[in-house]
Amino acid sequence: MRRNRRADWSRRLVRETSLQTSDLIWPLFVIEGHGERSPVAAMPGVERFSVDLAVEAAEDAVELGIPAIAIFPFTDASLRDKDASQATEPGNLVCRAVRAIKTRVPEIGVICDVALDLYTSHGHDGILIGGEIDNDRSVEVLVQQALVQAEAGCDVIAPSDMMDGRIGAIRAALEESGFSHVQILAYAAKYASAFYGPFRDAVGSGAMLRGDKRTYQMDPANGDEAMREVALDIAEGADMVMVKPGLAYLDIVWRLKQEFRLPTFVYQTSGEYAMIAAAAERGWIDRERVMLESLMACKRAGADAIFTYFAPEAARLLQTKA
Ligand code: PBG
Repeated sequence: MRRNRRADWSRRLVRETSLQTSDLIWPLFVIEGHGERSPVAAMPGVERFSVDLAVEAAEDAVELGIPAIAIFPFTDASLRDKDASQATEPGNLVCRAVRAIKTRVPEIGVICDVALDLYTSHGHDGILIGGEIDNDRSVEVLVQQALVQAEAGCDVIAPSDMMDGRIGAIRAALEESGFSHVQILAYAAKYASAFYGPFRDAVGSGAMLRGDKRTYQMDPANGDEAMREVALDIAEGADMVMVKPGLAYLDIVWRLKQEFRLPTFVYQTSGEYAMIAAAAERGWIDRERVMLESLMACKRAGADAIFTYFAPEAARLLQTKA
């Protein structure tokens, strides 16, 4: 076995999987203001950008060859309410960011999250009625949220809320409203994970969250159930599906890809980023090597693309290594 590994040229020839800049999607946090940037404490190296700087980040992404960005707004507690009314405002922060980016950098793909936790005072992804997340009432609001984002110019609607039936409802609404070209990336197998902690701080929902999300996000113990989730989302009209988190769930990525052969994305979450960044800060691991290894592992498992906060850094490294 070692003959093929002996020299670099040979290792390159027999390499089975490749990691390219075109595999990367960069999640960006946006804030109000102009010329503003603010660091995310639990994600060393990650900053939130005001819309004008987010436009510049999108330009950087194009220059680096990153095909798409995903936009997440930070919503202050004062703008949050129990019904997530900001979510369906055509002039909300995320819609303004999408408009600005698609005007100035039309060639970049823009992905928007559909879920209410970015706007609720209780931090949940849906509408609470009598202490429970009401599925169908939540779907009604999610559909309106998807429509304002499509109207703003979003290319890919990415529902991350895990309500039942939302993919079909959003697909139908997009068709009826003249957005038949807008793609849907379903967070189909999204787990009730503790790896989302730093993200919740980044968007301002961490301190808000009452309880947990186990009545709608999946039990980390389940794999067969992910197959059923994905089958439903495909039947309802998903163009692409996502597994989240990444590294701890690569068996799910592998099974989905083998079973459905659909474009399958994986989200390297905020907690995964934080673990690598923190250990590297302490000098305990090599940041660049662990970063590239973790991304390659996602590809080997069958992922077509990876949401990663490392996207610009990885893209730069891949350029110099190519
Ligand atoms: C919104 C959403 C979350 C993430 C992406 N979209 C948080 C959550 O579901 O609680 C997590 C992303 C990350 O951890 O990097 N529902």
